[in-house]
Amino acid sequence: MNATNGSPLNAGIDPTLLVESTAYADPQLIRQILDHLREHQPVCYVEPERFRPFWAATRYDDIRYIESTPELFSAEPRAVLIPESLEIENLNRFGDMQGVKTLVHMDGPQHLALRAITRDWFMPKNVAAMRGRIDVIADQFIDRMRSMGGECDFAADIAFWYPLRVVLQMIGISEEDEPTILNLTQRLFAAESYVTEESDLSTVYGETLTALAEFFTQLAEQRRNEPVNDIASVLANANVNGEPLDPFTLISYFVLLATAGHDTTSASLAGGVKALLDFPEQHRLLLAEPGLYPGAADEMIRWVSPVKHFARTVLKDTTLSGVSLKAGETVAMFFDSANRDGEAIASPAKFDIKRDRSRHLAFGVGRHNCPGMHLARLEIAVFLEKLLPQLEFIEQAGEPAYIQSGFVSGLNSLPVRYRFR
Ligand code: HEM
Repeated sequence: MNATNGSPLNAGIDPTLLVESTAYADPQLIRQILDHLREHQPVCYVEPERFRPFWAATRYDDIRYIESTPELFSAEPRAVLIPESLEIENLNRFGDMQGVKTLVHMDGPQHLALRAITRDWFMPKNVAAMRGRIDVIADQFIDRMRSMGGECDFAADIAFWYPLRVVLQMIGISEEDEPTILNLTQRLFAAESYVTEESDLSTVYGETLTALAEFFTQLAEQRRNEPVNDIASVLANANVNGEPLDPFTLISYFVLLATAGHDTTSASLAGGVKALLDFPEQHRLLLAEPGLYPGAADEMIRWVSPVKHFARTVLKDTTLSGVSLKAGETVAMFFDSANRDGEAIASPAKFDIKRDRSRHLAFGVGRHNCPGMHLARLEIAVFLEKLLPQLEFIEQAGEPAYIQSGFVSGLNSLPVRYRFR
């Protein structure tokens, strides 16, 4: 069935909201749309007003198939759904519709060669070796929580900053630059929230990309002159087929690592803490069985599924769950929906820290799967394993709020009250 937005199958729901950043302020609304589509129209043609049309894929098996079949589904031309006006502006400004050219926007040998540059940094063995540094940073933020006197915004005061410091230290960015990078990456992912009367969407977006480019150009120059043991030095001095990375690819690589490496993990940590408050029996279980922290971290990541979508372009006419897709069309994969698909995940609406860790798709799958997965899981597990046993209690102290972004979203604010032992 190829029915679109107005299909009777979709009575009462509006699939075009899937690209509206503001709709992500209400995760229940988005989940309702995804649940409905998955059940009634798992491959649905969506024609939003300000975006080029796309097929929304919402079933686990379809998303796994798309991710595992790069010969039919290309990451290259349109990996993320952004408004058409921005695509045009990016094309004029950078010669590329996406504004950046990162691993997530590449296929084939170029993708493999670029991914290989930083591969070692994210291998489980090397991530495990970073445990000492992660411990120190986790302690810094637990101390911050302690110093805040029993109330804080766990998302804005703690969860945004901790994974940021971990990944920026790996890249080689100093603590005093953290607020700049946090601000720029949040603007990039949720540009619409920063629009004012003076600054329209394309101005916010363009200025953000330019500021990121200036920052990373300077850093790369510095590391070319004086390389040290960090990712910035690896990128600044990398060669692919005997050539250094061109400036656009180099800057894009930095932007990818600086962005992919923290908002996702922050959202999962904050959402994970909220899940423990919502499901106190799981909280008690975790305290009783400390061996469950790694599995709990992974379940929190499934539960939050902070990366809301990635898109692929159809390379040859094909079918997906019986629906005909034409070459050149876009298909967007809604990971949150895959992770709530009862055909693939048992009792998906249950937050269950003991569940099988291998199934969910929050990190994607196939050639583009998230290289940062081991780091993200470790960061969350370490933080909670240190924090929770030190607390006499922790409870929600106000209404939560969510990041308005259709790309990476999660808690923006989680007021909590707590007491350390
Ligand atoms: C790609 C999710 C943390 C670096 C991705 C993708 C997803 C994802 C869904 C695309 C996968 C695909 O298309 O198959 C997450 C989640 C995280 C997280 C949920 C935290 C809970 C991190 C961290 C880093 C990182 C800590 C490290 C800096 C990357 C990179 C890519 C990527 C470099 C691009 C890979 C490629 O296209 O080849 N991530 N990520 N991510 N992630 Fe993560």
